[in-house]
Amino acid sequence: MANLALAGGTPLRDTLYPSWPQGGPEELAALERVLQSGNWSSSYGSEVRTFEESFAAYQDARQGICENSGEAALILAFKALGVSPGAEVIVPAYTFVASATAVVQMGAVPVFVDVDADTYCIAPDVVAAAIGPQTEAIMPVHFAGLPADMDPIMALAQRHGLAVLEDAAQAWGSRYRDRAVGAIGDAGGFSFQASKNLTAGEGGIIVTDDAEVAATCRSLADCGRAATAQRYSHALLGGNHRMTEFQGAILRAQLDRYPGQLELRTLNAAFLTEELRGLPGVEPLALPAGHSHSWHLFVMRVSLREFGDISKSTLVKALVAEGIPAAVGYSEAPYQQPVFEDASIVPSRHEACPIAERACESEAVWVRHPALLGSEEDARDVARAFAKVQAHYHEISTFE
Ligand SMILES: Cc1ncc(COP(=O)(O)O)c(C=O)c1O
Repeated sequence: MANLALAGGTPLRDTLYPSWPQGGPEELAALERVLQSGNWSSSYGSEVRTFEESFAAYQDARQGICENSGEAALILAFKALGVSPGAEVIVPAYTFVASATAVVQMGAVPVFVDVDADTYCIAPDVVAAAIGPQTEAIMPVHFAGLPADMDPIMALAQRHGLAVLEDAAQAWGSRYRDRAVGAIGDAGGFSFQASKNLTAGEGGIIVTDDAEVAATCRSLADCGRAATAQRYSHALLGGNHRMTEFQGAILRAQLDRYPGQLELRTLNAAFLTEELRGLPGVEPLALPAGHSHSWHLFVMRVSLREFGDISKSTLVKALVAEGIPAAVGYSEAPYQQPVFEDASIVPSRHEACPIAERACESEAVWVRHPALLGSEEDARDVARAFAKVQAHYHEISTFE
């Protein structure tokens, strides 16, 4: 009789984790409010504006400017920071492709550097080594919601006169020391795409403390409009990246609920971390003391040797079969993706990135945030599933 669900045994869980995204009467009322108002565009209504103010305050930033995606937020923020066409921007090699394609789409060249082995966030010493005469900006990514080490990055940026744009697409409410992320650097971009902890299906926001950068971002997101009463006066080469009022209204409802959900995820992440202690070959990413995490993903560094050297994808399939929302995550570093294959078409450059490549290939296993939105027992099931697969990997080692 098999034990593992992947080999025909009984799954560890027979109930589902909470579904995502979540919407309730508050979102319905918000949608109806916009529907009835007739102001469906943020050019006329006040939902997006109100959300911008609340979210900027939540992230300890002076200004917030919504866009129709997180990627648009990053592209427009780069433009507003004045990064020149052809300049180099230092980007971590373990991130979603949009961090890098945003750099290319604003006309600059991503330079991929390796990440820290314990956090998978950009490694400041490697950034220092990669700075050259063409470098104009650094893009730390708060991967999974875990804050990148901003103090040394800001010190480097200051020393070399570089801009810092935080890719905070996964980091709503994450804090680095005593400050929320996003506007620690010159600006930051967040995503509200459907899988995200704060979502309107799609959407993004730039936060910044710099009023001039904010005004430029607002214009770039609104067809380059000049800040005059004349609607058809266009000062900059912008586009239509506006968020709708429906999205703004949903986000207001989501943000009201967010602090409670963040607290629950944080508690459950702590239970799960405790439960994983002592399980050989499974180690959560390190959250340095004094920082806080949004827990978009609960990410573990796994040693496949402790699982009979099955592949990462078989391990993840076995966890999924037990009822855990596990994922292999990024399967290649951005520069290994076909889009970056030919630097004469899509320009990029990379340093040696053995840690990022290992994370993609064999080490990083993700569990998605809904696993942290149930009970303490639900969270602990993640550790139990790993232990179960570890005890019985011989049942599936022949599946490869
Ligand atoms: C790290 C990172 N950067 C950028 C983005 C782009 O955001 P969006 O999908 O809203 O364009 C995402 C979204 O998945 C992301 O995870």
